[in-house]
Amino acid sequence: MSKYDIAVVVGSLRKDSFNRKLANALAQLAPADFSFKQLEIGDLPLYNQDDDGNPAPSVKRLKQEILSAKGLLFVTPEYNRSIPGVLKNALDHASRPYGQNAWAGKPAGVIGVSVGAIGTALAQQHLRNVLAYLDVPTMGQPEAFLHMKEGMFDAQGNLGAASRDFVQKWMNGYVAWVKKLAGA
Ligand SMILES: Cc1cc2nc3c(=O)[nH]c(=O)nc-3n(C[C@H](O)[C@H](O)[C@H](O)COP(=O)(O)O)c2cc1C
Repeated sequence: MSKYDIAVVVGSLRKDSFNRKLANALAQLAPADFSFKQLEIGDLPLYNQDDDGNPAPSVKRLKQEILSAKGLLFVTPEYNRSIPGVLKNALDHASRPYGQNAWAGKPAGVIGVSVGAIGTALAQQHLRNVLAYLDVPTMGQPEAFLHMKEGMFDAQGNLGAASRDFVQKWMNGYVAWVKKLAGA
């Protein structure tokens, strides 16, 4: 275990997801006392409140991984000017049963890349709304709305020169945010 274990939620199940690439690249920009684990959300059932008393193994796993993390990192595309359903499904699952919200109190960062010019701005805003209700302290600044363009990633999956410094600044802010709220 590192000092700061971060649970990463990628809002895309796509094999070649740009947001998963971004999540991988972000992990390379953090200091050595941070480690990042991408949580599996593709095997969660559709949320059904009838199952609250008997959650699926994948739901129990998700909640345990969140509870044992020091912080959260959401890396999401924008679907139809909002967050993808798979991400909302995961948010709902780990928020229940009522009174057992696994997300609560975990410092979080929100970032995303999309092929649209607004670079996930509306998805991030909708996500912030949900996270506020879930009592997740979410970094306000810096923001990062990344527009997917040629050269965003190199062949090794590292961020290209045009966005590396900008995203490094975002990561520096995120690291400070987690340290401030998660404590030592
Ligand atoms: C159902 C659907 C809705 C989309 N809606 C938006 C949108 O509202 N804004 C946007 O910028 N891109 C939108 N896109 C395009 C995504 O930015 C693009 O598919 C991106 O590659 C998704 O992220 P990923 O590569 O991590 O899967 C949409 C794509 C899909 C499949």
